[in-house]
Amino acid sequence: MHNLIPMRAYVDAGLHERELATLHSAWHYAALRRDLMANRDWVLVNLADREVVIQNFDGHLSAFTNTCPHRFNAIRSGDCGNGPLICPYHRWSFGHDGAPTGIPFRDSFRDLDCEKLKLDCWDVDTCGEFVFVRPHAENGVTLPTWLGALSPRLKTLSEAMDKEYGRFRLDVRANWKLVVQNTLEFDHVYSVHPETFGAVVARRPSLAEIDMPMPHVGYRANLSPPEPARAIHKRVAAVFERAVVGNSCEHEHLSLFPLTAIGIHRRESIAILRYVPTSPSHTIIDTRLFLPRIADITETESAMLAAYSEVMLGFARRLGEEDRDICESVQRGVANLTGHRGIFGHGERIVWAFQRAYCDYMKCHSQGRDL
Ligand code: FES
Ligand SMILES: [Fe+2]
Repeated sequence: MHNLIPMRAYVDAGLHERELATLHSAWHYAALRRDLMANRDWVLVNLADREVVIQNFDGHLSAFTNTCPHRFNAIRSGDCGNGPLICPYHRWSFGHDGAPTGIPFRDSFRDLDCEKLKLDCWDVDTCGEFVFVRPHAENGVTLPTWLGALSPRLKTLSEAMDKEYGRFRLDVRANWKLVVQNTLEFDHVYSVHPETFGAVVARRPSLAEIDMPMPHVGYRANLSPPEPARAIHKRVAAVFERAVVGNSCEHEHLSLFPLTAIGIHRRESIAILRYVPTSPSHTIIDTRLFLPRIADITETESAMLAAYSEVMLGFARRLGEEDRDICESVQRGVANLTGHRGIFGHGERIVWAFQRAYCDYMKCHSQGRDL
């Protein structure tokens, strides 16, 4: 198995622009329903090549490009909030269909056609807790079709996700595809994470590919049983044994094409990662971490997990920083060469599967763009 993605796809600015224009039309995971529960709750996310605001209008979720149709101000700033959708520049307000509902000094505008002054609408659909958006398309593929067999898995996960115990963003000076590929194999664990992941994953796991509808890919890694050394860790492990999701001897990784990954580590933690490519050689990783729901949890156990999750958050951040450093190093290496084929071992076949899915997707959806 050799490299399928050309090296210039990691470094070339023109290619990067055309790549994002192609990825733009896919369904993108954007937020969780819990982020948008109340009327007027909103979140702002960066997706592929633009900012999208998602807002709850009396229980209905709408999504729009974050640009005012009046004179193009970015309407929302910040990550999230609650309030009516009003552009702060001249106070135009907007309804659930994106049409202006209030225009100060309305009389001063000639030929005001509110239909033509709608916000740029995106389609919104949900799968369990997961909120997805894509640019509005009359006859595009539906979310259930896009997710295929992943739908039931995401619904099960939605029911199993309890409190969010941490969130952090990492700036990585590497192409997003290198960042994704780094998550799809375990062979680097002992060289890149010798004191973190390598120390807790005692033997090299084998990976079983999860049967996912292309272009998504995923695997399960069989881990050695947890060996808690201290009494407190034994008590925590006993609580996690009652989690309603995961397997104490497994790490599951689902890569939702193109820019999302979900990791379920043993029965301990569920991570959702969103990749935001900002240039050919820069990616922001937005990581959110959740505790699994535990059957019949007591208040004492809950407090114990809250304290332990601080340790897990520190661990996840350190792991992320180690991966950031190696991805930045690979980016430097990639920038030095053109045309080399590379090679993948058996433990790296999911990386190859991602590359194949990426190439197929680009071929099918580039609509004449030279990629
Ligand atoms: S630019 Fe938004 S109201 Fe004027
Ligand atoms: Fe890693």
